[in-house]
Amino acid sequence: MKFFIDTASVSEIREALAMGLLDGVTTNPSLIAKEKRGFRETVEEILSIVPGPVSIEVVATDYKGMLAEAREIVRMGENAVVKIPLTLEGIKATKALSEGGVKVNNTLCFSPLQALLSAKAGAAYISPFVGRLDDRGHEGMEIVRDIRGIYDNYDFRTELLVASVRSPLHVLEAARIGADVATVPYAVLCDLIKHPLTDVGLAKFLEDWKKVGETVIRETAGAAR
Ligand code: G3P
Repeated sequence: MKFFIDTASVSEIREALAMGLLDGVTTNPSLIAKEKRGFRETVEEILSIVPGPVSIEVVATDYKGMLAEAREIVRMGENAVVKIPLTLEGIKATKALSEGGVKVNNTLCFSPLQALLSAKAGAAYISPFVGRLDDRGHEGMEIVRDIRGIYDNYDFRTELLVASVRSPLHVLEAARIGADVATVPYAVLCDLIKHPLTDVGLAKFLEDWKKVGETVIRETAGAAR
């Protein structure tokens, strides 16, 4: 499973890149606004430092406007993926852009049927929002399971990207279901590695090691200086 980070913060992206596990980035208008920097400046910096795909969302809601903004977005970097909401206009734009070779990430997906249309339109990624469904009392991961089944039935190549991830449990479930990608906030990415038993176990090992009274690296006169 690929890991994307869901942020427009360049410092968070740099930290995640340093972990060596980052495959891409997803942004949205709210995440861009949170950074309080210029849109173009932010996006161009992200595109230049991330070796993988970076999703950038259109804000036009009509077909022609979406196509015009998509053209602008793909000019910003060859790793740019155009994020398009799953509306009627959006699905038309997805079809046209995908046929033209532009990678589209269909966003704001809340049903398996929306995901079916997205795959038929040729989207590169489908983004079901699991956290926002959970917030409304629907089991978000249920639609991820449905989408996986539908895509496998017809051998659709659209990548299943689990979005609106709120906790490590969402990531675990995404991996169990066989999602292609999970896009996670930076805090959740860090939480994936944490376990109190790891910390307790390490503290005990280090305490016991002191009784050995040696160093792992052989001390030489030169090294001692
Ligand atoms: O980027 C799309 C999605 O991941 C948003 O997540 O937490 O705002 O529901 P959230």
